[in-house]
Formats: sequence, C-alpha cells, structure tokens
Amino acid sequence: MEIFSFLIFIVSYMLVPSLKISAATLSVSQYVTDGETLVSNSGVFELGFFSPGKSTKRYLGIWYKNITSDRAVWVANRENPINDSSGILTFSTTGNLELRQNDSVVWSTNYKKQAQNPVAELLDTGNFVVRNEGDTDPETYSWQSFDYPSDTLLPGMKLGWDLRTGLERKLTSWKSPDDPSAGDFSWGLMLHNYPEFYLMIGTHKYYRTGPWNGLHFSGSSNRTLNPLYEFKYVTTNDLIYASNKVEMFYSFSLIKNSSIVMIVNINETMSDIRTQVWSEVRQKLLIYETTPRDYCDVYAVCGAYANCRITDAPACNCLEGFKPKSPQEWSSMDWSQGCVRPKPLSCQEIDYMDHFVKYVGLKVPDTTYTWLDENINLEECRLKCLNNCSCMAFANSDIRGGGSGCVLWFGDLIDIRQYPTGEQDLYIRMPAKESINQEEHGHNSVKIIIATTIAGISGILSFCIFVIYRVRRSIADNFKTKENIERQLKDLDLPLFDLLTITTATYNFSSNSKIGHGGFGPVYKGKLADGQQIAVKRLSSSSGQGITEFVTEVKLIAKLQHRNLVKLLGFCIKRQEKILVYEYMVNGSLDSFIFDKIKGKFLDWPRRFHIIFGIARGLLYLHQDSRLRIIHRDLKASNVLLDEKLNPKISDFGMARAFGGDQTEGNTNRVVGTYGYMAPEYAVDGLFSIKSDVFSFGILLLEIICGNKNRALCHGNQTLNLVGYAWTLWKEQNVLQLIDSSIKDSCVIPEVLRCIHVSLLCVQQYPEDRPSMTLVIQMLGSETDLIEPKEPGFFPRRFSDEGNLSTIPNHMSSNEELTITALNGR
Ligand SMILES: *[C@@H]1O[C@H](CO)[C@@H](O)[C@H](O)[C@H]1NC(C)=O
Ligand SMILES: *[C@@H]1O[C@H](CO)[C@@H](O)[C@H](O)[C@H]1NC(C)=O
Ligand SMILES: *[C@@H]1O[C@H](CO)[C@@H](O)[C@H](O)[C@H]1NC(C)=O
Ligand SMILES: *[C@@H]1O[C@H](CO)[C@@H](O)[C@H](O)[C@H]1NC(C)=O
Ligand SMILES: *[C@@H]1O[C@H](CO)[C@@H](O)[C@H](O)[C@H]1NC(C)=O
Ligand SMILES: *[C@@H]1O[C@H](CO)[C@@H](O)[C@H](O)[C@H]1NC(C)=O
Ligand SMILES: *[C@@H]1O[C@H](CO)[C@@H](O)[C@H](O)[C@H]1NC(C)=O
Repeated sequence: MEIFSFLIFIVSYMLVPSLKISAATLSVSQYVTDGETLVSNSGVFELGFFSPGKSTKRYLGIWYKNITSDRAVWVANRENPINDSSGILTFSTTGNLELRQNDSVVWSTNYKKQAQNPVAELLDTGNFVVRNEGDTDPETYSWQSFDYPSDTLLPGMKLGWDLRTGLERKLTSWKSPDDPSAGDFSWGLMLHNYPEFYLMIGTHKYYRTGPWNGLHFSGSSNRTLNPLYEFKYVTTNDLIYASNKVEMFYSFSLIKNSSIVMIVNINETMSDIRTQVWSEVRQKLLIYETTPRDYCDVYAVCGAYANCRITDAPACNCLEGFKPKSPQEWSSMDWSQGCVRPKPLSCQEIDYMDHFVKYVGLKVPDTTYTWLDENINLEECRLKCLNNCSCMAFANSDIRGGGSGCVLWFGDLIDIRQYPTGEQDLYIRMPAKESINQEEHGHNSVKIIIATTIAGISGILSFCIFVIYRVRRSIADNFKTKENIERQLKDLDLPLFDLLTITTATYNFSSNSKIGHGGFGPVYKGKLADGQQIAVKRLSSSSGQGITEFVTEVKLIAKLQHRNLVKLLGFCIKRQEKILVYEYMVNGSLDSFIFDKIKGKFLDWPRRFHIIFGIARGLLYLHQDSRLRIIHRDLKASNVLLDEKLNPKISDFGMARAFGGDQTEGNTNRVVGTYGYMAPEYAVDGLFSIKSDVFSFGILLLEIICGNKNRALCHGNQTLNLVGYAWTLWKEQNVLQLIDSSIKDSCVIPEVLRCIHVSLLCVQQYPEDRPSMTLVIQMLGSETDLIEPKEPGFFPRRFSDEGNLSTIPNHMSSNEELTITALNGR
C-alpha cells in the first residue's frame, strides 16, 4: 500500500496521500489533517486535502482513489482555500463538520437536525455523509455531500430540486483547472411548469435538454440507447396531497458493471457537459459523449419558429408554414430574428377559429412559459389552447402509452430542432384559413388529393370537378338562404345554442366524444355546463344536406313529441355549422345490442318485444297521429336509440319529409335511405310512401329476432339475404331456425312466430299488400289469425354490391350501414 501511495505521490504531487492506513469513518473525537485521508470501504474514493493544477492552495475534496487525476469530484471549500497545510477537518461542538485553519472556520456543514452521536463516513458511492452511528438510512442522514455537488455528477447523485427544503442540487463549473471556485457555467433544473435542464453561461441559456416526456428528454432522444448507463427523471409527489411535488431530479446509474468509473462533469475550458469513462488500459478518462452535441443544440440558434436541422445547409429553416421575419437578415445567415406566421392569428374573431398544425420529430420549444395538466387528454388540451389567445402550441406532456397529459406553450416558440423521428407531436397554432368548416374541408381535400395522385390523374380531375361543384353549391346555399333561415327559425319555440357552448360541451368535437355517424354527419356526446348530457348531431357541410334539409328537420322535430321519438333540445346555426342538439340516450343504439353476441344476451325476448312495440308506436305516431304526416325514410337499427330503461326512441329525422294532410305518396329524384332497409319501389323508382317505412320496419323486426343484419347473410347461405332466408324457412315451415341464439331461452314461441309473420307481411313486394302501422300494432297485440304473406320484395342484388356504393362520391367510410344521401338522376 505504501508503495502504491508513493507512486501516486510521484505521478501527482498535488494529492498528498495518507501515510497511514485510512479508515472510512470519522468520529467526534477524530480529525483529518492535511496529509491524512479517509478512504471508502472498498477503496474506491478518497477524501483529503489537495491542490488543483498549478495552484498551491489547499482544498478539501473527494477523488477516485485509483484515478491519477488532480480533479476532485467534490470540493468542500471551493470559495475559501487554505494558504498552507494547516487545514483540519473535525467535528464542532454542535456536531457539525468544520474545516478549520488555525482557529478560523473555512467551511462547515450546517444542518438543523442534530445527530445524537454523529459519525462522518465516506461511502463507496463517493458520498460523504454525516449520520447517527449505526444509522444507514439515507433519508435520515444529517448531511451528505451529494446534496451539494461541485462540477461533477456521479452515478446515483441527484440533479434537481427537493421542494420540501428548497434545496437545489446543480452543477457549477470550476473557474479554471487551477481554481475550483464557482465559474460561469451551471447545469440545473429550472422549475417551470414543464421543467427542463439548462446549461447556463452566467444568466444566459446556452443549452437545454428539453423537458422530460416520460421516456427521455425531448432534446436527447437517442441517448436512451446506450450500453453503459441508464438514466431517469423522477418526480415524487406528496403522499397526502398527491398534486404537491416534493422532489424532481435526474440521475443516472451504471447498467451492468458497477466497477466502471463514469462521471459527468462540466468542462469549463470547452464549455460543455461531458460524460467520461475511465480506461484501465490507457489509464485516462475517455470522452463518452459531450453536450451540446452540435451547432443545433446551441440555444435558440435559429430564433423563434425556426427549425434547426444539422444535416441541412444552412441548418436553420422556418417551420413549415412560417416565413423569415426579416428576409434580408435571414438570407445573410443571421437567423436571430427567427420566423413569423405569414398571416396574423385570428383568435379574437369568433367565427374564424384558429387551427393547429401537427409537427413531428421536434425538440419541443423552450418551456419557460408553459402550463401543465397531467390529467387531461389531448383533445381537452387542444380546446384549452384554442380558448386562450396567447397559447401558441400544445402537446402531450407524456408520450408513454400513446400519450397523456397536456402542456401549453405561451409566447413565441423558441429553440426548436428537428430530429428524423420523434414521438412527441407538437401542435402549433395557425390562423384560420377560412371559417371553421372550410378549414376542415380543406384539410380533407388535401389528404384526398394526395391519395388520388397515387390513384391516377383521372381521379384528380373528377375529384376537382366534384369539389368545385360542392364548394360552389354550398356558397350559393349559404348566401341564398341565410336570412331566410333565421326568419324561419325565429317563430320556433326552441332554444338556440351558441357554437361556443357546443364546442365546449363536446371538447371541440373531439374524437373521444364521437358516438356515431348518422345520416348526414357525425354525432357527439356532450355535457353542458349544468351537467346535462346531450347528443350533438353535426351536419357536415360536405354531406348532401343543405340548409333546406336542416330547416326541415328542425321544424319537424320541434313539433314532434312522443315517448318513442328522440327529443330535440335545441339547435345551433353559425355560418357553415349546422348542429342539432338532442337528449342523450345512455344505452346507445339498438344495433349495438342485437348484432353483438355478448350484449345481445342482455336484450332478452320480453325486452325485445317491448322494443318492437315501441318502435311500432313511434312510427305510427309519425305516420298518423302527428299533425303532420311524416315518412321517416331511413328507419334502421342504428336509428333506434335506447334510454336508460331500454325504451326505444326513433332518431334521425334528417330525411323525413312533411306532407300536408292526406298526401301519402311522393316521388323524388333524390333517394335517401340505407341499402338493406329500402323498399324495392323506393330504391329502384324513388317512390316512397308510408309503406316504404313499413318495409323498413319489417326488416328491422327480422333483424331483432334473428340477430343478424339483412345485408349480412344469416347462416352462411351465400345466395340469400335475411329476408330471402326468412322466406325460404317460412315456406319450409321452419322459421324457428331464425331465432337468435341469445334469446332462445327467453323467447315466447307464439309471440316470436307472430312477429316473424308480421315482418313477412311488412316486407311484401307490393306496397299495397303491406299493412299500415295501425294494423301492424293490432296484429302484434292480438291473437287473431293473420293472412298468409306473399312473396317478399327481394332486394335486388346489384344494390347490395359494395361496388355500387363506391360510385357515390361523398362517403369516406366503407360502413355498410351508411345512409345513401344522393343518387341523382334516377
Ligand atoms: C485500485 O487499484 C488497485 C491496484 O491496481 C487494485 O488492487 C484495486 O482493486 C483498485 N480498486 C478499485 C476500487 O478499482
Ligand atoms: C492567505 O492569503 C490571503 C491573501 O494573500 C491572506 O489575506 C490571508 O490572511 C492568508 N491566510 C493565511 C492563513 O495565510
Ligand atoms: C496558524 O498557526 C500557526 C502555529 O500556531 C502560526 O504560525 C500561523 O501564523 C497561524 N496562521 C494564521 C493565519 O493565523
Ligand atoms: C443521435 O442523434 C444525433 C443528432 O441527431 C446524431 O448525430 C447521432 O448520430 C444519433 N446517434 C444515434 C446512435 O442514433
Ligand atoms: C467489469 O469491468 C471490469 C473492468 O473493465 C472487467 O474486468 C469485468 O470483467 C467487468 N465485469 C462485467 C460483469 O462485465
Ligand atoms: C476539459 O477539456 C479539455 C480539452 O478536452 C481537457 O484537456 C480537460 O481535461 C477537460 N477538463 C475536465 C475537467 O474534464
Ligand atoms: C391565458 O393563459 C395565460 C397563462 O396561463 C393566463 O395568464 C391568461 O389569463 C389566460 N387568458 C385567458 C383568456 O384565459
């Protein structure tokens, strides 16, 4: 040991080694003088006096015992060196550690919690601690050197804050290799709402890591993939008030081989943070990585709203959609002014909502001015941002598991760089191009155009023609009828909701709120400020429904009141937005039950019979009892909703037509309805009547009994649809085979048979053969003999081919239940 120590002494004369075998601990009665050292139990670290570089001053420090370096990893009296070798480390009468030169105290610990029987120990981690004798719980240490880092981070050390005590652990560089007093560089955690680490030069930001996104720091994504060490960022919360953060810190640990020596420190001469590994072979510290890595890591090198891409020349480019604030300076490579939006934001104008553009693979901007809520989702986040004019961007705060939490940025977005890939998408606020609706429209068009480019030029042409036609039509619609509508709606006694109420209730029509897709647009679930749940039907401007249909629907439904019809609560009309607000049905639509083998069991036969009756009564009301005679024209399982007691309510009157008094039949060149439910005369000739609704009811009845869709084949019989199959079984006197296995146990055979019989009467080919709804209800409710059904109107195969649907341009979904809204020229 003596020989080894002697060698070190030769190599590094500044480290004065101990000339006696050292212990790791120091008790109250002991002291360390210059020339003596403490050595950790396994001999990894040593504590003693040293002089750095060319300096002759004496400092108390800790260093790796085996590393011949004059750099101590920790220095006690950085700011107060000792001129000679008279320094002494000992315990004071108060139990604090003191470094004294003669009688003056050069440095001391200052802890509140008095140790009863204090000992100081240098641990094998490099941590020098004061604790009660026998106490090994780090939480109860009176003092530890890890809480007061110098310029070096060792494995297991924490960099960050203890918010209970207000203790900040940060690294501060030396002034020079000869002077360990605090230099200009520091590396620490800034306590923003969305915190991140900064390397500072004085008070200037020089580099930031980016905030922690759950997996890594936004600005150092590929550091996760390294074989040597792993790192973590920890936020611990108060046990009682979970929202109170008590500790936030970064630390790293060696993965496999704890005998590797690895340190992270600030290099004051090269102004960077470097990770170094000790090479036993070369007997020196080798650089493992340095930060900042490149030019693009330098803080705000490209200014606001600009993107640094290290592979580009020049590296700075405005974000897509932005332009240089000062084009001249920009082109002369002075990027400090950054970029601006080409058009100012339109935040203040109610009708022109800003929108957000998604950017992928960015190091997210400086988080100094941010707001964080870890408990809300991306859609709520978007709405929060939209509603605050100074919010410029938002993102998920945590990218794990598909993303969660919300962070908003206020003010200019600074210090962005581009990575080839990235998981934390940033949504940046951009001014509205047009009114809300057209914005979305435009968005879709772009996507569709890209798709069609691939598909072929002819596709583009026909698409463009279609878009032009649509846009012109909707503009014309808008101008022609706007005042007209307002006049019409004024005399309706129905609440008019404003758009903001609706967007708030539905989280700005978030996809999470979406509960379905009705005939003319999506349906959202919402919650009003008073807690009432609503269903919001947003009529899409790209659907066939113009203002005319909208007014029709509002006028009709406002007058209809029946317990088997969904109640309209109000509406909203604003520019292109046409919205209907209905009562919300907790149990959703009938199709979600009867076509689902598991949920289907929940609807036993008595419940299904009750539902069948309810639908029949609702339809009868539409056909006969209401003051107007209304043909629904799109009755189907997905248009029957169930309330909390599973009472059926018919919904979606968008295509209903009102007829005065005795008019029972009409003709239209615009067929609306859903294949599979449409009566043949209606689908083929556009002839509709109350009897076409009866046909749809018959189909629905069969579906409720069979648990299969009409268009989906019932039992793998490839040539027949459900009606055809039912008819075949009827003729074979074998209709009980139709019964859904979910209701086999609960069904009352005579009732089911009667229902099948009635349904076959309803789907007869000729409208005049079909019963009216009055008769249907009588037949369902009595035990009288029924007439024999004639052959049903088989649905022509060509209409049920998916191929035919594709010629109808305005449907993006392949959903076979989709309502067909435009089939002009028949
Ligand atoms: C330090 O070096 C000595 C001699 O090379 C060796 O025996 C000892 O194991 C080393 N200690 C550590 C902790 O690496
Ligand atoms: C150390 O040097 C400084 C400045 O030269 C002087 O003021 C101080 O008294 C000296 N202290 C000792 C212990 O010599
Ligand atoms: C420290 O003590 C020694 C011996 O007692 C004395 O010679 C020296 O001058 C003292 N230094 C200071 C700065 O008081
Ligand atoms: C990590 O990213 C930097 C900067 O983008 C790149 O230069 C480096 O090659 C990447 N390293 C790995 C291992 O992907
Ligand atoms: C750890 O590293 C030491 C020195 O580099 C090496 O001798 C040893 O085999 C390593 N152990 C493991 C488990 O990798
Ligand atoms: C700082 O960097 C220089 C140049 O690479 C190197 O010579 C010096 O040892 C480094 N200092 C520290 C403390 O790592
Ligand atoms: C927008 O957010 C900022 C920062 O949180 C806040 O100071 C301001 O009051 C907010 N403005 C509105 C209108 O909510």
